[in-house]
Amino acid sequence: MNGPNLDLLGAREPEVYGHRTLADLEAMVAMRAAELGVEIAFFQSNHEGALIDRLHAAMGESDGVVFNPAAYTHYSYALRDAIAATGLPVVEVHLSDITGREPFRAVSVTAPVCLAQFSGLGFGSYTAGLEALVSHLEKERL
Ligand code: DQA
Repeated sequence: MNGPNLDLLGAREPEVYGHRTLADLEAMVAMRAAELGVEIAFFQSNHEGALIDRLHAAMGESDGVVFNPAAYTHYSYALRDAIAATGLPVVEVHLSDITGREPFRAVSVTAPVCLAQFSGLGFGSYTAGLEALVSHLEKERL
């Protein structure tokens, strides 16, 4: 799942987020998911409520979520509550290093209810997040 403004990847502040698009990102993550033998669905929205609705829909449908809440990371208690409410393992990911930018970005209100956070690895944050989620699910099944 991807939050606001990530539909503009490639065009948006390329010096921070790179030149590749959301479609490129999804293709790379889909490839890694196929290698890991897991099914994946993608969702992006610029709207907080739509992201909350998608998290609710994931209950009973998905085993876990890799989520870049984008700017909502820093202040959305509603998304934090939605993550906690689902009870699903959610891995938070960020393209940029949120600890090395403006001070407001260093705060994540969502990370405390997530399984893990990967930040600053570009597209690699998503594959690392997916790998962490899959290995968590495998351990749970043992
Ligand atoms: C981001 C970091 C956020 O601070 C920012 O608002 C984003 C993208 C990232 O992936 O680096 O939109 O989540």
